[in-house]
Order: sequence, then C-alpha cells, then structure tokens
Amino acid sequence: MTHQAEIIDSPDESFSKLNMLDFISSKEIEKKISKSHAKKIPYDLYIRLSPQKFVRIVNKNQEIPVERFRNYYEKGALFVYMKKEDFQNYLGINLCLTEKISENKLVPQEKKLILLKHTGEIILDCLYTNEIDQTALESAKTMVETATHILSDSSAAFELLKALNEYTDHLYAHCVAVSFYSTLIARQLQWNAPVTLTKITIAGLLHDIGKKDIPRTIIDKPRFNMSVEEIKIYETHPITGMQILSKLEAVPEEILQIVMQHHEDCTGHGYPHGLKKGQIHPLARLIAVSDKFAEFVVKGPESQGMTPENAFLEILNLYRDLLDTTFLYALMQVFGFEPPKKYIQLREEWEEEE
Ligand SMILES: [Fe+2]
Ligand SMILES: [Fe+2]
Repeated sequence: MTHQAEIIDSPDESFSKLNMLDFISSKEIEKKISKSHAKKIPYDLYIRLSPQKFVRIVNKNQEIPVERFRNYYEKGALFVYMKKEDFQNYLGINLCLTEKISENKLVPQEKKLILLKHTGEIILDCLYTNEIDQTALESAKTMVETATHILSDSSAAFELLKALNEYTDHLYAHCVAVSFYSTLIARQLQWNAPVTLTKITIAGLLHDIGKKDIPRTIIDKPRFNMSVEEIKIYETHPITGMQILSKLEAVPEEILQIVMQHHEDCTGHGYPHGLKKGQIHPLARLIAVSDKFAEFVVKGPESQGMTPENAFLEILNLYRDLLDTTFLYALMQVFGFEPPKKYIQLREEWEEEE
C-alpha cells in the first residue's frame, strides 16, 4: 500500500463530498475503458471518521485503488471527501476561489445551513422519493446538497439561490426538483462521472434563474392563462438566466448553454431559438424532461402536484414528441413506471436506442 494515511482535524465545511458508490463506478468504467488503471486525481482524497476528523486515503496523483475504495464503502464509508478548493478545481468551477480575497463577502455559515436544510427537506418531503431505489436517492440527494453547498460558497451565487427561494413559494422547490430528477436520469444512464453529475445538478438548480426578474403576477400563472404579451415576457427567462449567470465568471460556459436551451424542443418549435433536436445540447434535452416532470409533480402554477404515474401519463399524452425519449424513458425507469400498451411504438424506439 503506497498511500500515507494521515488523520487531520478540520471543520466539516472545509470539505466537499461525493457519493462513494458513484465515485467507484465512474472509476471502474475508466479502468475498463483504459484496460488498466483509473485516471489519477491531482488532489488528496479523504474519508470522514467522525465530525471534523478526516483521514487521507489517497495522496494526490496516486493511482486510485478501486478495490480498496469498495472495501471502505462496505465498511460504511458512504462518501469520499476532497478539500473544498481542490474539489472545485477538479470540477472546473472556482466559485469560492474567485471571491476569496474579501472576507466580508463570505456567506455566514448559519445562512448556508438554513438553505441546505431547506433543500434536503424539499427533496424528502415533496419529490416522491419513496418510489425510487434507496441508493439512487442517496446519491442524487448528496449531489444536489453538494451543489447547493458549492454555490453557497460564493456570495453572488448564494444571492441567486436566495432570490429563487424567496421569490415565490414554488420556484425554489421546482429548481431543486429539476436538479434532483436530472441527476437521477444521468445516473440511470450511467453518466456517473462526478464532473458530469455536478454540471447537471448545478444547471438544474439555476436553470430558471431568469424568472427572478419576471413579475410575480406572470410567474404565478399557469401558461394557458397568460396573455400573448405575458407569454412573450415569460419566454425571455432562458436568455435572461444565461445573462445573469455569465456575470459569475466561474460558471462553466456549458452551464450557460444548458440554461439558455432548456425550453428548446425536439420538434424545433421551442424557444428562444427554435433549434432542431440535434442542435440542442444533450444536457439541455435532459433538463427539459425533468423540467416538465417537475412542473407536474411539484405544486406550482401548472399543477396542484400529481403522482409520478399521472405526470408520466400526462407527458406521454401531451409532450412526448417534444421531449427526448431516451431521457424520458430513463426517468420512467427510475420510478419503475411501465408506459401503457398504446405507446408500443415509442417503447420499441426506446428499446432500439438502448
Ligand atoms: Fe424554464
Ligand atoms: Fe423550469
């Protein structure tokens, strides 16, 4: 064993965590592809022994011993930890680094914790988590909480999350739902590389940030009740969202693109640009599926809150051509939902794609 185990005392909030099982499976895939080793990581990796006590299990730039990680997991280590700065570098999202200079800009720990607690409550109370596999639930919940944590480290990004949370009752719950369901879709498709999952989760949390600048009288209305003028204003939110996020220099460009394209649809009639399916970023097509699903299951202007089963039936009935069936089917699998026989043609398409 070449690693050097070192126990360090450090506040929990100076670390970010990833789901151990996701980490192991992404490394196993890398190992399979390269037929030898999983990719090295240029940062130290830790597990948490107890509050504020971490042990380093891999030194930076060492080979990742996948079997040993599986051993840790079996002994109860559900998460792998990295120092917060390292983690953000690893993901290519340097929110806390860009603002480190000014101490008075730091978001108070207490405010962060309130938002994190609220996020966890939305997931467990509103998102029909009883119907999904426990491992998938834990993993997606960790991803959403880690993303919230990362964003809260930047005062500018924290202000955006706060704005979503305070603007209407339903907007933040909707965004958490989209983030959570999008992560579940990605995992179902085995897109479990931490970088991909984090990007999807952050894009989900921020996809509707452009709505914070739209009058509440419009935001609170179901779409069929909006006037032509109101629809026009409503449909500005993907572009406004992209502009708001582009001011945070640390947000990756890919996330900007996803935010801008989340209302494009596969028939080419979406907005803002009416892009064709192949022109839409795959992650924007993924988010479009969880966006529609969240609109129905989470109480808000479009619905009083439906069961996942009814939401899927509604989507199949009204929106199946607009959405990417690969992602829609993956979400159905997450919930163990079997589409009715009349959608046999769609099912055949899905099976072909699989
Ligand atoms: Fe939207
Ligand atoms: Fe949305």
